[in-house]
Amino acid sequence: MTPRLAPSILSADFANLGRDVAAVEAGGADLIHVDVMDGHFVPNLTVGPGVVRAIRRVATVPLDVHLMIGNPDRYLQTYVEAGASMLTVHAEVVPHLHRTVMAIKELGGKAGVALNPATPISAIEEVARDLDLVLVMSVNPGFGGQKFIARTPDKIRRVRDLLARTGSGADIEVDGGIDLETVGAVVASGATVLVAGHAIFGHGDPTAATRALRRAAGVTVDG
Ligand code: DX5
Ligand code: ZN
Repeated sequence: MTPRLAPSILSADFANLGRDVAAVEAGGADLIHVDVMDGHFVPNLTVGPGVVRAIRRVATVPLDVHLMIGNPDRYLQTYVEAGASMLTVHAEVVPHLHRTVMAIKELGGKAGVALNPATPISAIEEVARDLDLVLVMSVNPGFGGQKFIARTPDKIRRVRDLLARTGSGADIEVDGGIDLETVGAVVASGATVLVAGHAIFGHGDPTAATRALRRAAGVTVDG
């Protein structure tokens, strides 16, 4: 399967978001990953629905919105209306995961559930078939530019087994520390959506970095 690449705008230039979104799209970005943080669930604050709405106006690819907030149920409709095509909540903060997943789908979004590095896969076992996406965190969420946790490929394989066993067609998205060195193991273990922030925006030429990461991921590069 060909993995899709989702550059995370967390490491983009916030004064030039439109320019940076266009740059990664020129390099072949399949999705734009938007990290929403509330300063409670994670020790950082980022952007809200206003910025999602603004990116939606300029982006030509779907927006993949990663909610790292303590009470996502309260904001699902807001983010779907702002332009999120994919909406991911964290298993650690949602008391009624099935209800939340169904609510996202009823709003017309693709539903994702994220697992922190310390969260066992069993947290999603009963809803696996209902999911469009499982987001495996390969760093502890909160910041860009962190080191990839080396045992993540093993977890990705176990998520892949769970999805196969439950008949789920969900994507496996991996987020944190993905770069030219780590991407090979992530793809080989079964990831189908790759998030990258620092590797894309940290070196001055996001278009070239997007192309390079796509190539390293085994994605056919056009242009
Ligand atoms: C981390 C965020 C990530 C982050 C990844 O909490 O969820 O999406 O932007 O950034 P890198 O690729 O720099 O680790
Ligand atoms: Zn993220």
